[in-house]
Amino acid sequence: MEEQLQAILAETESALATVEARSQLDQIKASILGGNGKLTALMKGIASVPKEERPAFGQAVNKTKKQIENLLAQTAASLDNAEDAAALGKTADVTLPPSGNYVGGLHPLTQVKRRITLIFRQIGFTVAEATEVETEWFCFDALNTPEDHPARDEQDTLYFPKESRFGNVSKKSDEAYVLRTHTSSVQIRTMLKEKPPIRVIAPGRCFRRDTVDATHSANFHQVEGLYVDKKVTIRDLKAVLDHLLRELFGKEVKTRLRPSFFPFTEPSFEVDLFSSNLGRLSNKWIEIMGCGMVDPKVFDNVGIDPEEWSGFAFGLGIERVAMMLHGIDDIRHFYQNDLRFLSQF
Ligand code: PHE
Repeated sequence: MEEQLQAILAETESALATVEARSQLDQIKASILGGNGKLTALMKGIASVPKEERPAFGQAVNKTKKQIENLLAQTAASLDNAEDAAALGKTADVTLPPSGNYVGGLHPLTQVKRRITLIFRQIGFTVAEATEVETEWFCFDALNTPEDHPARDEQDTLYFPKESRFGNVSKKSDEAYVLRTHTSSVQIRTMLKEKPPIRVIAPGRCFRRDTVDATHSANFHQVEGLYVDKKVTIRDLKAVLDHLLRELFGKEVKTRLRPSFFPFTEPSFEVDLFSSNLGRLSNKWIEIMGCGMVDPKVFDNVGIDPEEWSGFAFGLGIERVAMMLHGIDDIRHFYQNDLRFLSQF
């Protein structure tokens, strides 16, 4: 009896091994478990088994039946999987370059960031990135911004609680973590890592404790620029920024440097732009970015000799550029994910 059961089990196993379609599976199931199936026939033979052996006989048949049912279920599941895989097509190779057939589009801020990045890449700048969480030293001290500077005020800077820890950003024990208020901290990280000459831009997200209104947001984006070499002058700064602004806003724009103050540049300037082609912003001077010559104290702080090296730095708001380019009057449109707005770009 046991031999017969083993034979049926083995026969089922080998039949299932070649199954490719559900109909074959059904046939096998019928031939073993169906009304005229082999196991059913064996079970029917219980009548001729001596009474005292019947319980053991029944148990043995049931055990084999369970095993066969399990095998059938496994085969059914793998047929399901194979059907799903066939319906899904070939496995996607996620390492391949994209086909270019995107659904949707790039966010207008991403587009502007990419345009600015491309303009600088073409003139030999590389792209630097750093974390949005910064330490006070990188965000302020190294940039020659004293402890009592109003920018460091809790009204303006978002501080983390003293006990916060960020494993990927090391800090001194007595300083706090902040959300970076500008991308100028990337200047410091770059100068500590690389030896001059340096030509980098650093696009990235910044945070200030601004009240949110039509032109300010607590979360915004900047592109920082840093150029360090021998005998760099304000003329170099002006030439690079003119190139940027003409590429962005058209060849006919006029620009001017207006004296200003930043703790990390000396002298410092605001850059103004004049264009007859900027909608309601046409034909007047518009402030667009801050810049200046790297302050020798900043060079000292990162171990670059200010007698040997000089440089310029600048920072411009990506939102500001996007608003000017597209005539957008409310910064909040960028963050609300309203498709009626986004689908225009
Ligand atoms: N970090 C300044 C700001 O956020 C901009 C700036 C960058 C000015 C570099 C000068 C040089 O306003």
